[in-house]
Amino acid sequence: MIIVIPQVLNLDQVKQMRQHMDQANWQDGRNTAGTQAIGNKHNQQLDQDDPLTQQLADFILAALARQPEFVAAALPLKILPPMFNRYRQGETYGLHVDNAIRLIPGSATRLRTDLSATLFLAEQNEYEGGELEIEDQYDTQRIKLDAGDMVLYPSTSLHRITPVTRGQRLAAFFWIQSMVRQHEQRQALYQLDNTIRSLTTDLGQDAKPVLDLTQVYHKLLRQLADT
Ligand code: NI
Repeated sequence: MIIVIPQVLNLDQVKQMRQHMDQANWQDGRNTAGTQAIGNKHNQQLDQDDPLTQQLADFILAALARQPEFVAAALPLKILPPMFNRYRQGETYGLHVDNAIRLIPGSATRLRTDLSATLFLAEQNEYEGGELEIEDQYDTQRIKLDAGDMVLYPSTSLHRITPVTRGQRLAAFFWIQSMVRQHEQRQALYQLDNTIRSLTTDLGQDAKPVLDLTQVYHKLLRQLADT
C-alpha cells in the first residue's frame, strides 16, 4: 500500500530548509548506492557527515513525531536519519530495489527497511519529469507531490525516478523499521486506526464503539508489534 501524508512540512518550513540546502555540500549520489543500483543512479546527495545535514534531518524527524498520520501508518520502531537528494536536468535513478538492511550512521545499530519515505521539497511546477514510479503488486504508480508532502511505500517494491527534463527536483528520503514487520498486518491496523478516528469525530471519544474498537486495536498491537 502506498500512503500519501500531506503537509508534513508547511511552506515556511520548506523554504527555510531549502535556503540551507542551497548552501550545503552536494556529493555524487553513487556514494551511498548498493551494487546493483550504482550503475543507474545519477543524482546528488548532501554529505551525511555534514552537521548541517544532520540538523536538517533532525528538523524532519521532529516534524514526523508531530504527525499522528505518519505514526499510525508506519508504527515506527527506528527511523534512519533523513538524507537529501537533488536531480537536475537529465538526471535519473533507474529501476532498483532498496537494500533490506542499513547501518544507522555513526552507530553499530542496524535497521531493517520495511518502509521507504520520500518527502518532496520542490513544487510540482518547478520541474518536469522526476516522478517516483513504484511498481506495486498490480500496477505502476506515478507519484509527484507538492513541496512538504510525503509518500510512504513498501521497501520491497521496485521503483525508479524518471529523468528530470527541466528544473530541479529536491527531496528528503529515508527508511523506517516498523514495529509491525508484515505489510498486511500493518495495513489492517492502519485501517482500524482510521476507523476509530472517524468514529471519534462522529460519536465522541467516550462512545462505547470507540472504546471497544480502541481496546481491539491495542490487543492486536500487543500481539503484532515488536519493540
Ligand atoms: Ni530507492
